[in-house]
Amino acid sequence: MFQKSSVYTAFLLVWVIGLAFLGSCSGSGEVISDGEQKTSVPNDASCGDQKAAPKVAPMAVSMRAMLQQAETMRTFLISDSAKTGAPPVWAPMPFEKQTPTDSNVVTPDFLRRAADYHKAFDLVVREPTPDHFNAVVAQCVQCHESNCPGPIKRINRLRIDA
Ligand code: HEC
Repeated sequence: MFQKSSVYTAFLLVWVIGLAFLGSCSGSGEVISDGEQKTSVPNDASCGDQKAAPKVAPMAVSMRAMLQQAETMRTFLISDSAKTGAPPVWAPMPFEKQTPTDSNVVTPDFLRRAADYHKAFDLVVREPTPDHFNAVVAQCVQCHESNCPGPIKRINRLRIDA
């Protein structure tokens, strides 16, 4: 229970920090005070302005949280407590609705891959098994092969060997 709530708190923190960046991206330079309630942002063209772009895009912030939560889930799945304990929280991330570093990444293909990812994600949350977990990792890698090859090595290390 303790682990569950601390993971959730960490997620919220990352999320709020991400929204803080969004605030600066839209030019107001202010932290959105009701940011916690927001789950998505409109595709605002002004956010693509390179001069106003934050150093770390909200989509990249989400990705880091996804990686972190995936690592937590992996640790759980390979531990003995996977047979008895409650799985850690792995929050859905509507990352495809967030501003990326490079606005050109959001294409119809990208959105299709994002939908495939969320399908695999839903399954592992419902039934946390190594197979379902590996299916999510495969979706991470599949999208990264076309969009962002840098972290692939690290993502591949998540895979749970049978
Ligand atoms: C549908 C495509 C897609 C999926 C699925 C996806 N990613 Fe990403 N990922 C991206 C894109 C695009 C970026 C670059 C984001 C940016 O810089 O704004 C990125 C960036 C990253 C980064 C680097 C973030 C940084 O610090 O700059 C990591 C780490 C990462 N992803 C991990 C993951 C993990 C782990 C998963 C699966 C749990 C995953 N990604 C699933 C497209 C995807």
